[in-house]
Amino acid sequence: MNPHSERSWASGAGTVAARPDSARSLAPVTPGLPSTGVPPGSYRGRGYGERLGTTEREDAWWAQPLAQAIGLGLLGLYATWAAFQGNHYEYGNYLSPFYSPLFKPSWWPISPAILILWAPLGFRATCYYYRKAYYRAFFGDPAACAVGEIKSKGYCGELKFPLVLQNLHRYFMYLAVVILFILWYDVIRSFAFARPNGIVRFGIGGGTLALLFNTTLLSLYTFSCHSLRHLVGGKLDCFSCVAAGGPRLKAWSVVSILNGHHMGFAWWSLFSVCFADLYVRLCSMGVIHDPVFYPFDLFYTAGGTGL
Ligand code: FES
Repeated sequence: MNPHSERSWASGAGTVAARPDSARSLAPVTPGLPSTGVPPGSYRGRGYGERLGTTEREDAWWAQPLAQAIGLGLLGLYATWAAFQGNHYEYGNYLSPFYSPLFKPSWWPISPAILILWAPLGFRATCYYYRKAYYRAFFGDPAACAVGEIKSKGYCGELKFPLVLQNLHRYFMYLAVVILFILWYDVIRSFAFARPNGIVRFGIGGGTLALLFNTTLLSLYTFSCHSLRHLVGGKLDCFSCVAAGGPRLKAWSVVSILNGHHMGFAWWSLFSVCFADLYVRLCSMGVIHDPVFYPFDLFYTAGGTGL
């Protein structure tokens, strides 16, 4: 007897008895209602084909997409403005995360942030959570579950250009991990304050805390990524059947726990990266004074250049 034959499968229509694999096709589970996993262009649930906003829901379904539109809009505008400024991104041993790693080739005419921001931007733009958020908030496609959506002619999921580019997420994730190491170097550097007399002092400033807080949140965001979870173990049915199964199970378990909070990390890290840039920017512009606590001296450098 097929061990799966008594398993129940949940569908949008409720729980139904399993069918043999050969029959578990795209055919409707119940006459008139489709199973999950319908191909592009098939029945897509209540709301599709209805006027934008039409729904039987009585809760405040609009509140979340509205909050997402405001949050993403404001933070996106700030990040774009800061990236194109091209100045006030450094203050002593602090470097804005929008400009790290810092490349300033002489032939590049505009802000150096543009040279590197495409990688973290691509990572966020193709993130599974952000896709859901901005599809709902900006495209109304759909604005929420079981709510009438903007009719997009020829929409076929993420199978064609440009949405097929969303599949690059895993590759952006590799780049994001590399950049994360550089951001941690920036954090370490932010603890070392060079004095004019050549002494480099260990210190904890407001900027140190802002960079530390931000990089911690960016790490949590990156290591809670769905693609990373799939990479470390999501595609396996049996950990004990593969090489290094034990460590992979542990890694997968940790990433799975983090993954449960991915949405929160996505938002908090977006706030923190803007805040860290703003803090460095305001210090550099002389708008705020950076308080630093110096517990001890680190070492001496002839020019007092620090790390
Ligand atoms: Fe959000 Fe990968 S799914 S960062």
